[in-house]
Amino acid sequence: TYVIAQPCVDLKDKACIDECPVDCIYEGERMLYIHPDECVDCGACEPVCPVEAIYYEDDVPEQWAEYYKANVEFFDDIGSPAGAAKLGNIGTDHPIVAALPPQQ
Ligand code: F3S
Ligand code: F3S
Repeated sequence: TYVIAQPCVDLKDKACIDECPVDCIYEGERMLYIHPDECVDCGACEPVCPVEAIYYEDDVPEQWAEYYKANVEFFDDIGSPAGAAKLGNIGTDHPIVAALPPQQ
């Protein structure tokens, strides 16, 4: 799977959403999250993010390693909706994101 990391927090450029063929990039309150089971690893989202927030799971920079877990655990309560567009802003964040001071 691909992972969205800290540079997305409080920015949410959303260029990535338009590239995803399976609509698996979901909007939280302060950042977006890639569904680990719905992502087909096409990689189309990664180059379009203007702040380089998106990484293949094996390439996440060390300082953002916990964002792998954040992208996975964000869906613990949500399950696999098979489409982000219909949900819109889910209005919550993973605890490591919710605890961050304002980033922008
Ligand atoms: Fe965030 Fe980059 Fe997408 S800032 S919303 S991961 S384009
Ligand atoms: Fe979509 Fe990016 Fe995965 S475009 S399928 S979230 S690699």
